[in-house]
Amino acid sequence: MRIQKYLSTAGFCSRRKAEELILENRIKINNKSASIGDIIDISKDKVFVDGKLINNNTKQIYILLYKPKGYVSTTSDPEGRKTVLDLVTDIKERIYPVGRLDYDTEGLLIMTNDGEFTNILTHPSHLVEKVYKAKCSGNITKEKLNQLEDGILIENEYMTNKANIYYAQNFKDYFEIEIGIKEGRNRQVRKMFAELKNPVLSLKRIKIGFLTIDKLKRGKYRELTKKEIEKLKKLEVNKENN
Ligand code: URA
Repeated sequence: MRIQKYLSTAGFCSRRKAEELILENRIKINNKSASIGDIIDISKDKVFVDGKLINNNTKQIYILLYKPKGYVSTTSDPEGRKTVLDLVTDIKERIYPVGRLDYDTEGLLIMTNDGEFTNILTHPSHLVEKVYKAKCSGNITKEKLNQLEDGILIENEYMTNKANIYYAQNFKDYFEIEIGIKEGRNRQVRKMFAELKNPVLSLKRIKIGFLTIDKLKRGKYRELTKKEIEKLKKLEVNKENN
């Protein structure tokens, strides 16, 4: 969190006043003079004003939610539909979703109040793979699987990156497929199958990197462990296969 926000959420002063104090050189982060916009890691950094330690007990929250269909993944909805916040009413801190899932899509969604964490996870260089399980109309062919794996031109405008296919099975007039992509254009999976003329009938996000939906019940959430949070942050640095 930024230093100005740290001081305001700690109840010490307003953000504007914090900027003044910074410019007057009265604020230190650990033992270095602070600059406007400096980022604080509240789990380890210490902030001093005129040599006095300022505590900020804002708890950082990181949860993994199994969003059901029929909820928007924003914190409010102009149309008055249910939002994912309705599923986490027992959390007092103001958390918000990291990225989006469509109203009609279910599955994994990370929520947090840590803006830096959100920036890391949503930055284009953060190549975490998300795996979706889709049920689509019609049947899938080898050629179509190759197309999905190699990249598909969607809406005559954007070529998708390579995708991984983990499972595919035809049934009478539909098929099931598990597909992993490392990008997140708006309604991307639905658009990819629409290009193949196999519209998505249902869609579920079953993995985000190493996090899986196993053991989570629809509409429920769990807190991420410290280890998971650290690992997710490091994925950006390593850009390794996750
Ligand atoms: N792709 C989609 O089409 N919808 C989602 O919600 C996520 C990925």
